Amino acid sequence: MIRLSLADIARAVGGGLHRAEGSEIVSAGVEFDSRKIETGGLFVAVPGERVDGHDFAARAVADGAVGVLAAREVEAPAVLVPPIPAAERSGALALAGDADGSGAAVLAGLAKLARYVVDRLPQLAVVGVTGSSGKTSTKDLIAQLLEPMGPTVAPPGSFNNELGHPWTVLRADERTKHLVLELSARGVGHIANLCQVAPPRIGVVLNVGHAHLGEFGSQEAVAQAKGELPESLPADGVAVLNGDDPLVAAMAERTKARVVLVGERPDAHVRAEDIEVDEQARPTFTLVTAEGSARVTLPLFGEHHVGNALAAAAVALELGATLEEVAERLSSVRRVSARRMEVSETSDGVTVVNDAYNANPESVRAALKTLAAMTRGRPGRAWAVLGQMGELGEAETEAHDEIGRLAVRLNIDRLVVVGEQAQAMHQAATLEGSWGEESVLVPDVDAAVALLRAELRPGDVVLTKASNSVGLWRVADALLTGGQTA
Ligand SMILES: Nc1ncnc2c1ncn2[C@@H]1O[C@H](COP(=O)(O)OP(=O)(O)O)[C@@H](O)[C@H]1O
Ligand SMILES: [Mg+2]
Repeated sequence: MIRLSLADIARAVGGGLHRAEGSEIVSAGVEFDSRKIETGGLFVAVPGERVDGHDFAARAVADGAVGVLAAREVEAPAVLVPPIPAAERSGALALAGDADGSGAAVLAGLAKLARYVVDRLPQLAVVGVTGSSGKTSTKDLIAQLLEPMGPTVAPPGSFNNELGHPWTVLRADERTKHLVLELSARGVGHIANLCQVAPPRIGVVLNVGHAHLGEFGSQEAVAQAKGELPESLPADGVAVLNGDDPLVAAMAERTKARVVLVGERPDAHVRAEDIEVDEQARPTFTLVTAEGSARVTLPLFGEHHVGNALAAAAVALELGATLEEVAERLSSVRRVSARRMEVSETSDGVTVVNDAYNANPESVRAALKTLAAMTRGRPGRAWAVLGQMGELGEAETEAHDEIGRLAVRLNIDRLVVVGEQAQAMHQAATLEGSWGEESVLVPDVDAAVALLRAELRPGDVVLTKASNSVGLWRVADALLTGGQTA
């Protein structure tokens, strides 16, 4: 973070000083967890369902914080944020257990502080990424393509909401050249708000799928929300849009910015041609741009990464990388965020594909196709260990049903459905075609592990995937360590 006094911070958030002179200098980042505070940092007191950050204010300061961003008086130097009216506490700022709105007030203050900092960093190229699937993967790709061109700040994992987003923005300082942000929405207006915090000059929209459909109600509403990113871009900005997704391509109408289409369609400005996947489902493609073309092999698993790579390439090209540099960097990227197509081998020669970070219909489809490609023409069997795809609302049962049928159509050898909530997958797989023994429904993670331990053979490939709350990575971990499930 840039150096700011507590008085500067009070000015930025429109708040007041408490137990502070104002001249105290914050020289390290903001933290919500008092245990993570670095000397010189700012502690942000957020009330939660079980604990209230305000109760840890004194401890955070004892551990090195210069002061606290708080909604009420605490036993430490603080900047007190102004209260916000009840009408403005809904939507993205609505926190569980925040009856008096103090959490919303702190987050609103944090957002203002982040904007204050961004406005003091004119050198910063801000890149925003949104979409239903692939935000984190693409954000990681973009950061890796930009890093060689200058200091780059990007969130760890999926820091993409009203807490993680300003937290990340506040990591930027005078040396930072690129700020890469992941923008998520659980409702209309959320992305527009995040775009106010750190206005992107380049905005990437990957796809409009079914993630969080329960909260949005319809895919059109999802498109409406994701389109707030291109809508927020300035006239001298760039909207990188997936031309292969009609709902995304249509967002060209909703932006003042120059549009760069990416995808496989022939008129895409940054295009993939001649896509092939190897026996591990790693894609190779020809990256075609106005500058020329280059062959790229991604060291990532699954053809769905091609679209993400095209978006990342478009961003890097806009920010000054050459086609050769982009092709070379894409061919040596690392997977950064865990539990996303993480491929490992057990001591018994079983390949484990841990994609258990989360699941929605599009990402499960992509993962199943990858699993099929990894076993095609080889002796080992394909095992899909799947659980509930949550947050889909009324669409959930039908979505589970479709995945069960897709597993059969892709010739997945064995489907292990974990948990009653996902039983529609098992039923659909059993009804589709001649599947009998091929699909089983087990009650929980332990039962899945027991079944797999009894039946896996060397050469088999096991995919684990479900919504995060199902915790299916415990299956992957148990197979890889040979130990008990945690
Ligand atoms: N373009 C894509 N289309 C479909 N699925 C994808 C795509 N990119 C990534 N995925 C899959 O979606 C899941 C979530 O990926 P992640 O990058 O964490 O996305 P997000 O941050 O949007 O949740 C993973 O299983 C990943 O393999
Ligand atoms: Mg994410």
